[in-house]
Amino acid sequence: MAQASPVHTQETCEHTNITSVPFSNINIPMDSVLAVDEESPTIDFLMLFSDDPIQQSKALDNLSNACDEYGFFYLVNHGVPDSVIEGALEGIADFFEVTKEEERKEYVKSSPADRIMWGLNSHAGENREYLKVVAHPQFHCPAKPASLSEALEEYFKRFQDVKIGLARAISKILGLEEFYIEKFFNLKSGFDVSAMNVYPPNFQSKGSIGVPSHTDPGFFVSLIQDVNGGLQVLSHKGKWINVYIPRNAFLIQIGDHLEILTNGKYKSHIHQVVVDNNKVRRISLATLHGPSLDTLVIPATKFVDHLHPLGYRGMTYKESLEANGHHEIEVQSRLEQLR
Ligand code: SIN
Ligand code: FE2
Repeated sequence: MAQASPVHTQETCEHTNITSVPFSNINIPMDSVLAVDEESPTIDFLMLFSDDPIQQSKALDNLSNACDEYGFFYLVNHGVPDSVIEGALEGIADFFEVTKEEERKEYVKSSPADRIMWGLNSHAGENREYLKVVAHPQFHCPAKPASLSEALEEYFKRFQDVKIGLARAISKILGLEEFYIEKFFNLKSGFDVSAMNVYPPNFQSKGSIGVPSHTDPGFFVSLIQDVNGGLQVLSHKGKWINVYIPRNAFLIQIGDHLEILTNGKYKSHIHQVVVDNNKVRRISLATLHGPSLDTLVIPATKFVDHLHPLGYRGMTYKESLEANGHHEIEVQSRLEQLR
């Protein structure tokens, strides 16, 4: 995730070290939060591929506006069955309910080769418990409870079509060849990491923040949750918006590496989680969909000219995950500009 000081302690797991780091001094005041999410864009996935050229072009225009102006959108009609989404959230609830904290701690001191990581308030300013797993290209998950691994495997399998569909639609709206992003990011071997977060009610909170403001690495993030309440996204007007994800829709947020690919035309999307108002436990599943680890992510030449000089020097996805907190997204200055 794009981060600023203070520097946090890094977990040992090699590639699941995708974390947020607090901008604890620069969280936008809560009075700038819009209580009701009246303006967030909703994209109809099916319409992006409609046989009717007028419908398709309208849907692509909406997507283009959402990516340009907002950096996030709700995705409906995506084809992943409700039962698969609900199954994944139930499997996560089972994991946190059925296993003892002692068993979960087994995943703290992972060796670099491990692909599973557990944490509880691991970073300064955080108030959450999480389990991170690698979802793609190989699926890694705790074996127990079986309900978790079975449900997640199905969920990730079903999501692949959505990922490829969004890659094609976003390539089109960027004026690139339809398969550009798919090929450039080598999505067949794309490195996807999932964070399963649980925010209990009355969390022994050190503050009001569950996860401090941050962006995430990758092409985009897809997120589902069991209840609304807590996740806030930064609107293009510089306001924090409480997210109200339509039932079984995905929240999609642009990631750092789409920002790099577009040389900053699209901005990696800033978000945070607050826990103060949590009346009930909340579970979320946020998956960071990345290029393959060996992909060198540099801006496409189409987005570089004398008006738009090269803004990112580029590194492989693996390097950028390992340089956690030291890569190229200027989140802190962006937040400061909004104040
Ligand atoms: C995150 O972005 O790190 C967590 C999001 C959430 O729990 O809603
Ligand atoms: Fe995030």
